[in-house]
Amino acid sequence: MKLAQRVLDLSASPTLEIDQRAKALAAEGIDVVNLGLGEPDFDTPEAVGDAAIAAIRAGDTHYTPAGGTAALRQALARHIQSETGASYTPSQVMVTSGAKHALFNAFMALVRPGDGVLVPAPYWVTYPEQIRLAGGVPVLVPTAAEQGHRLTAAALEDAWRPGVVGVVVNSPNNPTGAVIDPAEVDRIAAFAQDRNLWIITDEIYSHLVYPPAVHRSFAAVPGLADRLVYIHGLSKTFAMTGWRIGYVAGPAHVIAAMERLQGQATGNPTSIAQAAALAAVSAPMPEVARMREQFAARRQLAGEWLAGAAPLAGHAPDGAFYLWVDTRGLVGRTVAGVPIESGDDVARAWLEGAQVAAVAGSGFGEPHAVRLSLASSADRLREAFHRLDRLGVLAH
Ligand SMILES: Cc1ncc(COP(=O)(O)O)c(C=O)c1O
Repeated sequence: MKLAQRVLDLSASPTLEIDQRAKALAAEGIDVVNLGLGEPDFDTPEAVGDAAIAAIRAGDTHYTPAGGTAALRQALARHIQSETGASYTPSQVMVTSGAKHALFNAFMALVRPGDGVLVPAPYWVTYPEQIRLAGGVPVLVPTAAEQGHRLTAAALEDAWRPGVVGVVVNSPNNPTGAVIDPAEVDRIAAFAQDRNLWIITDEIYSHLVYPPAVHRSFAAVPGLADRLVYIHGLSKTFAMTGWRIGYVAGPAHVIAAMERLQGQATGNPTSIAQAAALAAVSAPMPEVARMREQFAARRQLAGEWLAGAAPLAGHAPDGAFYLWVDTRGLVGRTVAGVPIESGDDVARAWLEGAQVAAVAGSGFGEPHAVRLSLASSADRLREAFHRLDRLGVLAH
């Protein structure tokens, strides 16, 4: 009696080990500043919650079409148009149980056994695992720390090889916060056209971009409609991680295939959460701008700290809500009794020596980095930076 190879090959989440240790310390009554979490620390806007409660009261608690209600698909098509200028019909849009599930559907629908998919690194942990689950082969594309990890068409061209069928792009990026230069978006689009590739674009952090950085959506590039799979969700923009609503827009036959798949795998995303999502995208939500302002203030604070924290290196993120810290300068030193060889060691030292939980970069494909989430209040961030300064190896 054996388990299937596909699950034996799956990596566990890289946040797990540190998270368990952080929780164990907290259970002992120790004050841990947990900067590992990848979700907004804000509440879902009240009007969104009210819409869900109203849906329950109205008996809106039954199966919907697998790809979501007609009303939500239509509202999302309008929403995408107002965000990107791209026009999709409701049948080119479907609702999924989070953007993660939209990505899973996309890889399952587009990748055949042995197909290569270009994955810029550092990458969000889930992409390579999902590509492998679909039978594909992630082809990693290094991006340079010196260029802020911003993806270029030239880097993709260097990594391309026969057998590659698609490219995943994620801007603003988790974990690095990089936002692809707008002109480069057009070059990457041209590269995908030349090489006849699918573009799977995960733009879930598009509302969290800090000037002067500018986000150009791949959906805004003319001529890509046949090859573009546009992925987004409500988790980050509306602080709705637990509601599990994502969406995907693309060519009608791709969306139809994904809907068939979803119909057999999970059926519809929760009807109540769909009603909440409809409210979120149908009316202006002032909370969204307020959350962005807070994230902007925190990324400023974090960038100022890191600028004076040699031998650590890095800068304030251009987008999303993570501080990506290059830890190469600590290699060979000992921090809090831990000899430092990698970002994993740094994360361990920070947790044991300063009770600050961060995620090691190894899970994101970069062994000499750690990621700090800015989804904690400015006061908690100041406390974390103060504790790290006190460890005594930084420039402060
Ligand atoms: C880059 C990226 N894409 C997708 C997701 C998935 O979001 P959800 O499934 O909550 O919509 C996340 C969540 O951390 C993410 O960071």
